[in-house]
Amino acid sequence: MREVTRDFPIEKFENIQTPFYYYNTQLLKETLDVINSETSKFDNYHVHYAVKANANPIILGIIKDAGLGADCVSGGEVEAALKAGFTPDKIVFAGVGKSDWEITLALEAGISCFNVESIPELENIDRIAKEMRKCASVALRINPNVDAHTHSYITTGLSENKFGIDISMIDNVLECLTQLSNVKLVGLHFHFGSQITDMDSFRSLAIRINEIQEIFYRRMVIVDNINVGGGLGVDYQNPDINPIPDFHAYFETFRKHLVLRPKQHLHFELGRSVVCQCGTLISKVLYVKEGIGKKFAILDAGMTDLIRPALYQAYHKIENISSDAEKEAYDVVGPICESSDCFGKAIELNSTKRGDLIAIRSAGAYGEIMASQYNCRRLPKPYFSDKI
Ligand code: LLP
Repeated sequence: MREVTRDFPIEKFENIQTPFYYYNTQLLKETLDVINSETSKFDNYHVHYAVKANANPIILGIIKDAGLGADCVSGGEVEAALKAGFTPDKIVFAGVGKSDWEITLALEAGISCFNVESIPELENIDRIAKEMRKCASVALRINPNVDAHTHSYITTGLSENKFGIDISMIDNVLECLTQLSNVKLVGLHFHFGSQITDMDSFRSLAIRINEIQEIFYRRMVIVDNINVGGGLGVDYQNPDINPIPDFHAYFETFRKHLVLRPKQHLHFELGRSVVCQCGTLISKVLYVKEGIGKKFAILDAGMTDLIRPALYQAYHKIENISSDAEKEAYDVVGPICESSDCFGKAIELNSTKRGDLIAIRSAGAYGEIMASQYNCRRLPKPYFSDKI
């Protein structure tokens, strides 16, 4: 079977040093439009983009212009969000281990909320806020103990994981809060995993949150904000058929199953679903090498440019965009001195030769941002569809 992908401006790619990230900004904007049109049906739904998925300044700028907030997990991400123009009232700061300098930076900037994961962290934020004569708004990250049925490395909502506060500790936490005068409880935060495509999992989360809200309610605690985290997955198999995730089904699941108290706001922290499909890693074939009973396509991109296949055995669709010859099977590998530096085995590619361009799809999330310089490699540069 022959397959030619015509969506990439291949002639323009010829002059760019590979490997590089190519972002389809039009698709990103369309994705944001869908998110906005779905959430505009409700006056109390707010999306904070999870900066960890992709902190490229141009990508952040487009997301900020669409009106989303920013969900940050480090001082560096708070700085990146501020630099991109997100206003502090639209920035939240999560993470299991916030350093003092990061807390100070966030308090100085006046971010809207810290998602807090333990009593010692609560005490530390209170101490720093007191020194700065400020009051920090906090949401408690509760570990919902709901299985997201996704890869174990990206499951976070089980009691065995390091994340969040176990609900059995709620009395201790509430008691602690009464002692602290420089923190104010404004929300409950949940996040149970990533790359979740089964809406039943989100339904289970919503039902669990209802139970947890009841537990707080019985203790006379009603918070302003419920934050359900991120996690909506994308179709890595069919990026062209499903370039935009089913945001309608996602928000509907919460509308149907999550019970909000009057005036409560519902927050979402979507990362992957916003940026994944707009990004592609473009690489060149260095050599085609005959192995024993197989062929290797050796690329100039490796696990340093996109670590997901090596780290999570993640699938990314791989295409030869220079060739329209008959398909053949290749093990597609990188140049790094690690056996795990493999993008896929027995991948059907249009017959491949040295110099062909290879597109590794759905790489907009957790791609460029997780690139490293291992082997003293250069970091891949980003290019944008409206700027090349
Ligand atoms: N909120 C919190 C608290 C999170 O920990 C995460 C992701 C998100 C939101 C955004 O989740 P998303 O909507 O992107 O699923 N590097 C891995 C994914 C790690 C996700 C970590 N937390 C990967 O490449 O699959």
